Amino acid sequence: MNKQRAGVFIAFEGGDGAGKSTQAARLAAALESRGYTVLRTREPGGTPVGEKLRSLVLDHGNGDIDAHTEALIFAASRAAHASQVIRPALGRGEIVLTDRYIDSSVAYQGAGRDLGQDAVRSLNEWATSGLEPHLTVLLDVDPQLGRLRRTVGQAAEDRLESEADEFHARIRDAFLNLAASRPASYLVLPAHLPVNELAGQILARVDALLDTPPAAAQDAVQLPAVRGAAQHGGGS
Ligand code: TYD
Repeated sequence: MNKQRAGVFIAFEGGDGAGKSTQAARLAAALESRGYTVLRTREPGGTPVGEKLRSLVLDHGNGDIDAHTEALIFAASRAAHASQVIRPALGRGEIVLTDRYIDSSVAYQGAGRDLGQDAVRSLNEWATSGLEPHLTVLLDVDPQLGRLRRTVGQAAEDRLESEADEFHARIRDAFLNLAASRPASYLVLPAHLPVNELAGQILARVDALLDTPPAAAQDAVQLPAVRGAAQHGGGS
């Protein structure tokens, strides 16, 4: 029998303050406790060059960054991330959880900055050689709740976060439309639900994805490698 296993690629998306990082951490812990090898990563960033691009594009004080330049910086970070981090991990049969991926560019630069969603998607498909998540978890957040959450007890907002509520409302609509156009590839949840409830629903959906027989699954979705218990006794 073919023992070759392909990895599973899951993206967390949503507006600023949606709670993606918390949920990605919860899912990683749940999967690791079952013996799966999980790689948690984020965009922009995830590689040395990506982290430098992250500071360049998010920090205030780098002068004017026009919308096209901004889209290209995010795409450049993503190109490095896809080729240096995500594809190799999937090749090792791991579960990759990324905090943001292509949909963020389609929503923020395509809809928010008005560059056009199709153009931004094409740019990013080229940048990643067409690498798509098997599942995208969209945490849908009301822009005002998002702003409240991220500003309470936190440092100043970054360049994108500090945009007006109207900008964030366009992004929210774009995310929801993306999910509606391919419902089988998305799990959409209201971000205001209690953290435990969200975590439970996400885990249930991921369990269903992992249980999907390869023949019925989309593209390369197959069971990921399960680490042998003996190999890492104390796991997380
Ligand atoms: P994020 O890391 O989610 O913010 P935080 O530091 O609060 O956890 O994302 C950083 C910002 O970058 C966020 O406002 C969304 C924006 N962004 C884009 O505009 N386009 C993109 O392609 C990505 C990945 C992020």
